[in-house]
Amino acid sequence: MDPVEEAKKLAAFAAVDRHVSKEHRVIGIGSGSTVPFVVDRIREQGEAVNRGRVFVPTGFQSQQLIVQAGLTLGDASQYPKIDVTIDGADEVDAQLNAIKGGGACQLREKVLAEAADTWIMVADYRKNSETLGESWKQGIPIEVAPFAYVAVLHRLAQLGSPTTAEQSTAVGAHGQVLTLRMGKAKAGPVVSDNGNFIIDAPFPREMMQRPAELLTKIKLLTGVVEVGLFCGMAKAAYFGNADGSVSVRQ
Ligand code: 5RP
Repeated sequence: MDPVEEAKKLAAFAAVDRHVSKEHRVIGIGSGSTVPFVVDRIREQGEAVNRGRVFVPTGFQSQQLIVQAGLTLGDASQYPKIDVTIDGADEVDAQLNAIKGGGACQLREKVLAEAADTWIMVADYRKNSETLGESWKQGIPIEVAPFAYVAVLHRLAQLGSPTTAEQSTAVGAHGQVLTLRMGKAKAGPVVSDNGNFIIDAPFPREMMQRPAELLTKIKLLTGVVEVGLFCGMAKAAYFGNADGSVSVRQ
């Protein structure tokens, strides 16, 4: 297996083994390419244990994973309280703050993170950072109401998100600029499972060092539905390493 895939698997297996016990009945399943390993490990706990459980997805991809694994699908509208949610991450800092939304699922991911007694992140070693914005360079994913996206872009630029490569490089934002996320063929914007658009907003390094402050500022902009900054929410993050070990931050 490719070393990065192996690292994802190690993190997912370790997190399930430590945090998903027989007593857990309602389980949140996150999004991304690490989460299939979470579902694999949960399946390995056996049919007898899983028969009494309900699995709540954070989006279409995880819904498919749950159904294909033969597990019982639930909906966030039925389960305001979840025992444990396990999800991926785009980057995690030393204080367990995270950037999420690389797959445009941050709204449902945050709802399931807040609903969970225990919220755990799983990722490969590339996501393990000291400060947000070190390895995830494309900016903070922000879900916006389509009607308001131009207004929100304008307000994000006023907040300090760079709009030219020169400005971006000068403030330590890797030359990335404020962008409306487009689909692969660039024929139109990415649309989330909730029918909204996604803006990727890089910010100066010094603003990224205070993610909770930045989250509050962005969240207050009218038209913003949810921000892909998850601050102070996780109980632990599991990182699979290239040498076959797992690092746990808690
Ligand atoms: C989707 C997410 C994912 O959890 C995040 O992008 C991590 O994905 P992967 O496990 O593929 O690295 O936030 O919105």
